[in-house]
Amino acid sequence: MIAQEDLFKKLIAHSKEYGYIFQSSEIYDGLGAVYDYGPYGAELKKNIRDYWWKSMVLLHENIVGIDSAIFMHPTTWKASGHVDAFNDPLIDNKDSKKRYRADVLIEEFREKLHAKIEKEVEKARKRFGDAFDESQFRATNPRVLENQAKIDDLTQRFQDALEAENMGAIRDLIVENKIVCPISGTANWTDVRQFNLMFATKLGSVSEDASTIYLRPETAQGIFVNFLNVQKSARMKIPFGIAQVGKAFRNEIVARQFIFRMREFEQMEMQFFVRPGEELKWYEYWKEKRMNWHQSLGLGAEKYRFHDHDKLAHYANAAADIEFKFPFGFKEVEGIHSRTDFDLSAHQQHSGKKMQYFDPEINESYVPYVVETSIGLDRTFLMILSNAYQEEKIEKENGQVDERVVLRIPPFLAPVQLAVLPLVKKDGLPEKAREIMNELKFDFNCQYDEKDAIGRRYRRQDAIGTPYCITIDHDSLTDNQVTIRDRDTMSQERVSIDALRGILESKLAMRQYLAKL
Ligand code: GAP
Repeated sequence: MIAQEDLFKKLIAHSKEYGYIFQSSEIYDGLGAVYDYGPYGAELKKNIRDYWWKSMVLLHENIVGIDSAIFMHPTTWKASGHVDAFNDPLIDNKDSKKRYRADVLIEEFREKLHAKIEKEVEKARKRFGDAFDESQFRATNPRVLENQAKIDDLTQRFQDALEAENMGAIRDLIVENKIVCPISGTANWTDVRQFNLMFATKLGSVSEDASTIYLRPETAQGIFVNFLNVQKSARMKIPFGIAQVGKAFRNEIVARQFIFRMREFEQMEMQFFVRPGEELKWYEYWKEKRMNWHQSLGLGAEKYRFHDHDKLAHYANAAADIEFKFPFGFKEVEGIHSRTDFDLSAHQQHSGKKMQYFDPEINESYVPYVVETSIGLDRTFLMILSNAYQEEKIEKENGQVDERVVLRIPPFLAPVQLAVLPLVKKDGLPEKAREIMNELKFDFNCQYDEKDAIGRRYRRQDAIGTPYCITIDHDSLTDNQVTIRDRDTMSQERVSIDALRGILESKLAMRQYLAKL
């Protein structure tokens, strides 16, 4: 087993070496929290995007997709609340000159208190063995109770401070709890200040006439402002959804953890418009649906959990995150939010245009309520990639031990699905391999490789996550058979070339995964 921090470092290095992810503008020493996707990264990202899109738009008659512009009228962001309230509370350490998100410092401190409780519980479990009564221990142990009381107090005061937008109270929490800067080790903090996360730019060439516009911080608003256009043009009846995939931009201050938190990233969002009063039923429905989608990837049910928000945004009446166990802990990948009629009503008010739907079933007009599912494409990518990376020792027949790095990406999402490998570069094998590849390349992403010994070629394919290798040997020319080698088990199976397409389709087609949703 690789230690989790090591795993993450290795993953970043591997991603670069094998063409998954590069630091943006690397030759100029990079740009913080901005990344480029290489040849394999771009393929994997496209496949994840396709799987999401198909699961939403193809599998639901009442969901349609759009592709709205990144730039939107500036009033959009006034109406949505982003101009006034899309802020992070920031604090600087005067000694290290490092800037932190105050809420993250407090959250991390809370996690430490949780960890202390869990450590006590584990110690006691070892001490008492089978006789251990965990709930009794949690309810009575003084150290557990003391830490739990600290957590409860911290949580309550932090929520109150956020609600009252009281930055002084947030600073007090940091100081009182002796939270220090991880670099300088001191608690020499500045005041906490609010910092808006939107990137602003100017539209128009003459500076006096130019107006400030923003790079969208979420794709959702492009859906809201088009609600009536879509409803009318596609003749949608409530309940219905609008899906979209696209770039979003946030000037994240604490941008860490590789592609987990980026300044330019991609979201896959779906806004589901429902009758007022029915939103909580649909919220539960989409929570379950989205968790099923995640589970269908086969990464392990135990790696997911819901995190219900205790503090709701002003527009929401219910919200939960789907969290995944990354190498750095459980973190949010997707949010499911019951957003009430907040956005449509705000746009109605700011634009002066009606955002209402006439419901023929109840003979009434209303502003619909919205349940949204919002998942980060880059985070989903990181979830799949970090789960896929494995180092293995393989015992060879001669007793020697070989090592391989393998990316166990779900086969139907793999960037290269199939490697076509002539055993040697002569005797007509390359020609036969090309013939096979020319037949398969319309259905599968194939890679041809004839360089180096077959074992090295298998390792290269393992390292980029290719689920199947087809090897063409001398017998293939006479018996019309090839060998399929499985990435995960490394087992080999001899099959007829005529049956190849059908076999591969049964292993690789996205269709089967969609059919199970
Ligand atoms: N429309 C709702 C919305 O934008 P959010 O929780 O702010 O909600 C949704 O974002 C998802 O977008 C997150 O669950 C995450 O996967 C992704 N996301 C948000 N900020 C991100 C960032 N800076 N870098 C990468 N992904 C991000």
